[in-house]
Amino acid sequence: MDSNTSLQVHYFIQPGKVVAHPTVVLAYSGGLDTSVAIRWLMDKGLDVVALTVDVGQPGDLAATKRKAEATGARKAYVIDAREEFADEYITRALKANAMYEGQYPLSTALARPLIGKLLVDIARKEGAQSVAHGCTGKGNDQVRFDLCTTALAPDLTVIAPARVWNLTREQEIEYAREHGIPVPASKGSPYSTDENLWGRSVECGVLENPAIEPPEEAFEWTASPLAAPNEPAYANIGFEAGVPVALNGKRMDLLAIITKLNGLAGTHGVGRIDHVESRVVGIKSREVYECPAAIVLTKAHQALEAMVLPRDVLDFKRGVEARYANLIYDGLWFTPLREALDAFVDETQARVSGEVSVKLFKGAAAVVGRTSPFSLYEHRLATYSSGDTFRQEMAEGFIYVWGLPARTWAAIGERAQPTKLVKAAKRAK
Ligand code: ARG
Repeated sequence: MDSNTSLQVHYFIQPGKVVAHPTVVLAYSGGLDTSVAIRWLMDKGLDVVALTVDVGQPGDLAATKRKAEATGARKAYVIDAREEFADEYITRALKANAMYEGQYPLSTALARPLIGKLLVDIARKEGAQSVAHGCTGKGNDQVRFDLCTTALAPDLTVIAPARVWNLTREQEIEYAREHGIPVPASKGSPYSTDENLWGRSVECGVLENPAIEPPEEAFEWTASPLAAPNEPAYANIGFEAGVPVALNGKRMDLLAIITKLNGLAGTHGVGRIDHVESRVVGIKSREVYECPAAIVLTKAHQALEAMVLPRDVLDFKRGVEARYANLIYDGLWFTPLREALDAFVDETQARVSGEVSVKLFKGAAAVVGRTSPFSLYEHRLATYSSGDTFRQEMAEGFIYVWGLPARTWAAIGERAQPTKLVKAAKRAK
């Protein structure tokens, strides 16, 4: 190792500490950026262990593993974390109806703490001193990975090659060619995408102009509502304590429900989102999403809650939900606040059981029916037909007391404030 290299290693590992075989665990997607990152980290004198996490993205992950090894990784892991993603992350977000800025179900954001946690696990297993990811310095994902490592393993260093290597796209491709890293032959997709069970994120290319409608080719999971079937489909979702447990009468685990629903709702054009969002780093960015299952399940869950929870709980929970969504977006998953909010949300879910019917048609998902053993809906109270047991005459007394503050306020104003202006106005009439 020449002195220049060792200097760089010192910069990346602990300053002043000499490590025999400094090791870094890299979150590896198989794409150009993270492949170049393998060689770049090796150039800096580090042993690279690659980690690819299956969170439901398409693609041949065995081939990804081979590519990591061929590019120079000392070892490459592929971990199937789909069930953990569904049961520990998506479940919590769904109970909290988490939608960033009311629009984005946080699909990309939610997978980051899981991938970050697994990076730390493998770093421990491999005795690594650092972890690495392929994020740039302009996005949210760097914040999420870095904060996750800080929270779980403050002794580990985080390296983000793309944040420091100062390569233009052309230089990066040149670097890849020099090092025998396969570069996609065609220019490939003009978009930057990220996919997992909870959705597909698309950015860049023409989408960077927020005035222009996203072209049809930007979508892969959802049919154009115009081309969607002329007959609607129904998704009947069974919930137990806030968690989906059945689809169209069949019991299945959440992973299976999400997978099935992405297909079914996507076929009917459901789940497209076009959002100008506020990034953590202060940038406004135009992002397009396809989240068929997330949209259907969240709508269904909200509809069930509306029927089984009292008004004040719903109202208070909405504030918690907005906070919860921000926290996921901002990379604060592994924090005491998230755990405390989870405790509140879980407490509200005990009676969120029942069935919700969602109609899928030409891009729309509409809740059209709901039943629950805990329904607070009482026909004898709500009806305007015979069988009404609500004592309407009692409403008058209720309104008298309920309106007392408003009446007092108005009366005092009349007595204390009949200003000349008011009098003049009266005289003018
Ligand atoms: N803006 C979204 C988020 O911060 C998604 C970013 C996904 N990345 C991508 N390459 N499209 O969670």
